[in-house]
Amino acid sequence: MELSGKRIALGVTGGIAAYKAADLVRQLIKQGASVQVAMTESATRFVTPITFQALSGNSVFVDQWDQRISNNMAHIQFSREADALLIAPASANFIAKVAHGIADDLLSTLTLARTCPLLVAPAMNMQMWENPATQRNVATLRGDGITLLGPARGEQACGDHGYGRMLEPGEIVEDMIAFFQPKRLKGKKVLITAGPTFEAIDPVRGITNLSSGKMGFAIAKAAREAGACVTLLCGPVSQLTPRGVKRIDVTSALEMHATALGLAPSQDVFIGVAAVADYRPKTVAKNKVKKDGNAPLPIELVQNPDILAEVAALPTPPLCVGFSAESEKLAEHAQKKRLAKKIPLIVGNLVQDGFGGDTNTMIFFDDHGETPLPPGRKIDLARLLVERIAQLLGQR
Ligand code: C5P
Repeated sequence: MELSGKRIALGVTGGIAAYKAADLVRQLIKQGASVQVAMTESATRFVTPITFQALSGNSVFVDQWDQRISNNMAHIQFSREADALLIAPASANFIAKVAHGIADDLLSTLTLARTCPLLVAPAMNMQMWENPATQRNVATLRGDGITLLGPARGEQACGDHGYGRMLEPGEIVEDMIAFFQPKRLKGKKVLITAGPTFEAIDPVRGITNLSSGKMGFAIAKAAREAGACVTLLCGPVSQLTPRGVKRIDVTSALEMHATALGLAPSQDVFIGVAAVADYRPKTVAKNKVKKDGNAPLPIELVQNPDILAEVAALPTPPLCVGFSAESEKLAEHAQKKRLAKKIPLIVGNLVQDGFGGDTNTMIFFDDHGETPLPPGRKIDLARLLVERIAQLLGQR
């Protein structure tokens, strides 16, 4: 329930993507939001107001001259009672009206009279989107501080393939959740390593660590929500990349090391969440290794470079944060690592608490000692870490 207590005013305009707005209402409500819908006359040609009324549990505003509305100040109240006004889908025509302050129907009047932030999810045919008039209008919206969600590129209802498709309801909900997060890392560049690394023995076998990558991905999402420009450097994982995050896939510790050190000097923050293999086979067999009777197979291992320690030792390092997953003596091991790697903050957790799941129990270790966090979902803990990092950046 990421939108608990949020009141969303949803404006639906006339376009085939209006049918997706029905699912959008359902998903917003599922996240705890309350939704009040207003539709343009042409939107009602695609989906009936009854659909939105049933899904939102609220009556739907359509007609400016509806005498049944006892409060004829509806255009003032609509957004005053909302935390955000979201227009999805937003037609080219509606965007043009917002750009020029035109208020010639109920929804455009509500939009002009708003007192809350406005978010707009365009949906139109690619030629309409690319038309210079639309592009000028969109630039005007951006200049007015209005948030554009999408559009996406893809197959359109008319058969064309290009920009103009409305974001999927789930993507709009994700963007709404991000919108409400404080922008604590606005404009900061954050590099995060995540997941395990895989150290090849031969073309089909290797050594790896147990790591789902979930914590690193949650931190990437939280940093992005906070306004950072996020690069997620990950080993082999099967996690969905958070929206707006640049993902770089690597396999081995050496690849992760080379990429991380190439990027780190230009970053404000480096967070090492990856479970990097400490050792790799000294040589990688070119062909699949065959069994030799019952004989054991010795594999000589050499140490991998410590990525975090090397980033922290750069001449002007980014703010470095490490992780310390331990099976015992958490505080002792975590603080020892923090001092050895010369980093200001290390996040400790016991492997039995957080491995592979969606929740974790974490403790911050720094110069002042330890601060346990309330056990919780990885995304909530990630947001607390982002808050702590923002404080540390402020002290730099
Ligand atoms: O030394 P240890 O592996 O226990 O330290 C864990 C921390 O160091 C994590 O933040 C991990 O991402 C980072 N690390 C690294 N490169 C390694 C080993 C660990 O960046 N080779």
